[in-house]
Amino acid sequence: LRRNLLNPSALPQFSHPSILFTVGIPSLSSSTMSPSLGDMEPAEAESVYFNEYPPPKALPKHEALARAFIDLHVEANRRVVLVTSGGTTVPLEAQTVRFIDNFSAGTRGATSAEYFLEQGYAVIFLHRQYSLLPYSRHYSHSTNCFLDFMDEAPPVPGAANQDHGSIVVRDEYQTEMRDVLRKYRYAKQNNRLLLLPFTTVAEYMFELRSLAKLMRPLGPNALFYLAAAVSDFFIPRSRMAEHKIQSSELPPEYQGGGGGGGGDSGADSAVEGDDEIYTGENEAKPASQKKLVINLDPVPKFLHRLVDGWAPDGSMVVSFKLETDPTLLVYKARTALQRYSHHLVIGNLLSTRKWEVVFITPDPPHERWIRVPKARRSKSISGVEDQVGLAEIMKGDKGAAGSESQQAPN
Ligand code: PMT
Repeated sequence: LRRNLLNPSALPQFSHPSILFTVGIPSLSSSTMSPSLGDMEPAEAESVYFNEYPPPKALPKHEALARAFIDLHVEANRRVVLVTSGGTTVPLEAQTVRFIDNFSAGTRGATSAEYFLEQGYAVIFLHRQYSLLPYSRHYSHSTNCFLDFMDEAPPVPGAANQDHGSIVVRDEYQTEMRDVLRKYRYAKQNNRLLLLPFTTVAEYMFELRSLAKLMRPLGPNALFYLAAAVSDFFIPRSRMAEHKIQSSELPPEYQGGGGGGGGDSGADSAVEGDDEIYTGENEAKPASQKKLVINLDPVPKFLHRLVDGWAPDGSMVVSFKLETDPTLLVYKARTALQRYSHHLVIGNLLSTRKWEVVFITPDPPHERWIRVPKARRSKSISGVEDQVGLAEIMKGDKGAAGSESQQAPN
């Protein structure tokens, strides 16, 4: 029965030369989480999901930092935005060698954070570790490497060491770099920016829940800006391999434990068929040189819980919707807004995300496109004009389309 259900030709799948993902199918495992996690009421899904994992090790430290940061800005009656940024990973093994990742460099989140800071917000920047950060992003791309902005000045005449001069910023970059440096220093010295990293989807969920609850004293001064690309599928901890999944046959004395799985729960990850290894299943079988079939469960949509439970009353929630098919974008963004009853969905397409976004709002005009004019696209490192649009909307300028806004083509 399992073999039939996982028949690759009969199911939606993403394939890779050696890895086959089968997704969105009910699991046959006896895990406490499957098969109904995606069908549960949001509060029940929350309790089941969060019981599956130990909280991330860094959570208590992050909570302490966030509490102090929030207290400071509550005192100052300042608005605080939680910006989420970057992609979450789905580990295939508890001691993780392989993982599935979501697309996101962190450009949108890091750029938006800078604009929020400019608008007077304090920013909690919950980001994928090593993704782009506000301010440093200007110099951390490989195409925008900080070393290309530097020069070695000639040694100062008469100085003791004539072998080398000081490192200086090249003349043509002085103005721009000074501007970025000043903003960065201002944010740092005035405690306006708190950087908190995550890696896995579970870490992201724990952090999001904790931060939202900690933000309650902010009331309507809290804003959630969810630009992170969050995994929709995962392997529950109880079905995850403990060790690296083996791709080649092991001698009998090594089979059934290590490579095939055996997490803390005693569950195993790899089930062998004739041609395939299944991970995310419960039976122990040795791995061999075969396809890897990954059985993923849906991650509950915690936007529900954020809006209805975790976030402070009166706060504003903005989510993003990423699509690749232009015919689906507005429909999916509208559906998300209706489903979660929050304030704004910003839709973007993978291919055009840097110069056009669509704002979907509950109030008129309901759909508003914001585009960076062609002439300015080459200068725009990322989608920055959409943040200007967001600022306009927050100021109550709901109806007026900015000079760069246009109606969407049909
Ligand atoms: O970082 P860049 O390279 O600049 O790219 C930016 C971006 C394209 C990643 C960004 O603009 C963007 O669109 N981010 C959201 C991508 C995404 O995860 O879309 P989604 O359809 O999977 O999720 C929609 C919303 O639901 C998100 O706000 C997410 O926080 C939320 N969600 C998602 C999954 C889940 N299990 N629970 C959720 O609450």
